[in-house]
Amino acid sequence: MASNKRKTVLVAGGAGYIGTHTTVELIEAGYDVVIADNLSNADLSAVQGVERIVGRSVPFVQVDCCDLDALRQEVFEKYPFDSVIHFAAYKAVGESVAEPLKYFRNNLDSLLSVLTLMKEFEVHNLVFSSSATVYGQPDELPATEQTPRQRANSPYGLTKQMSEDMIQDTVAAIPFMRAIALRYFNPIGAHPSAWIGELPKGVPNNLVPFITQTAAGVRKELAIFGDDYATPDGSCLRDYIDVVDLARAHVVAVDRMVELPAEDDRQRYEIFNIGTGRPVSVLELVDLFERVNGVPVPHRIAARRPGDVEKIWAATDKANEVLGWRAERELGDTLRAAWAWEKRVRGLE
Ligand code: UFG
Repeated sequence: MASNKRKTVLVAGGAGYIGTHTTVELIEAGYDVVIADNLSNADLSAVQGVERIVGRSVPFVQVDCCDLDALRQEVFEKYPFDSVIHFAAYKAVGESVAEPLKYFRNNLDSLLSVLTLMKEFEVHNLVFSSSATVYGQPDELPATEQTPRQRANSPYGLTKQMSEDMIQDTVAAIPFMRAIALRYFNPIGAHPSAWIGELPKGVPNNLVPFITQTAAGVRKELAIFGDDYATPDGSCLRDYIDVVDLARAHVVAVDRMVELPAEDDRQRYEIFNIGTGRPVSVLELVDLFERVNGVPVPHRIAARRPGDVEKIWAATDKANEVLGWRAERELGDTLRAAWAWEKRVRGLE
């Protein structure tokens, strides 16, 4: 890699769950990282966890990516980088239904600032944090990148669809730009060091943090949302991807753009599913967690959660073949890491 600029990555939203894990993998792959985060849904201790793992300090700027001028002055003018990974967004599906304007304002404005400044400073490469939510409930499974997107069933999902489209049109109009959208399936787990992991504020919406908090005694009981779906055991099927594997996908996406010039316009905006390709039911996941960790997770069957899709999992061939990436960690190890993290956070053992 030539200049310092090419070797440096801006990680917007880098203090969050996936941002911290990605920062670690980038640094371990030889990149320098600048983190920008407003800490609205993250804690500075997460950045300290990253620094502890990589054994050095990581430049951190507390800034709201929606604030164009602040982002320009405090980040784009001060640091040389040629790639941006954009994570800075709200992500709670239910909250987005109650407060759509908050989601539109934050998620779209922050992306607009990033794109505007990338144009202004001639920054070439963008990796965008998208989601399998853009597929809704696909008619055919596994979902491939060609599977038609359906009308989003939450404002959060709509911001992911709109963001993808905004990036596609921006890249089409700016010949020096290139972007990769990664559609994550269900990210779970924690770094094996247990120094970073998922730290939801309040009651967790997502399954694995709810499981770990229930196992830790913070929650009394896990509600399994539905056992009457058309699936083998009646509970929903998802594709659970280890957060460290997911973080590595961002590194290979940046590598691709830094190292290989785009051959044609089709390579200037690309989409990849990031999952394991393996469907796992909610009940299977709870059972595996209990078995690998030797800890009970009290649970009961409850009503379906409105808005849940019945089943979705990824076709990963494109990421395997084009990025040379595949999920490597065993689900049991991922659930062990999730539990180790929860225990460390709670000061157990
Ligand atoms: N579940 C429970 N009990 C809980 C929490 C979840 O049974 O307390 C079930 C859900 O019903 C679902 C599965 O566990 O079947 C996974 O639920 P999550 O909330 O962990 O994940 P989702 O698949 O609902 O959400 C993911 C991403 C979102 C994305 C969404 C699209 O986390 O960012 O997919 O549907 F928007």
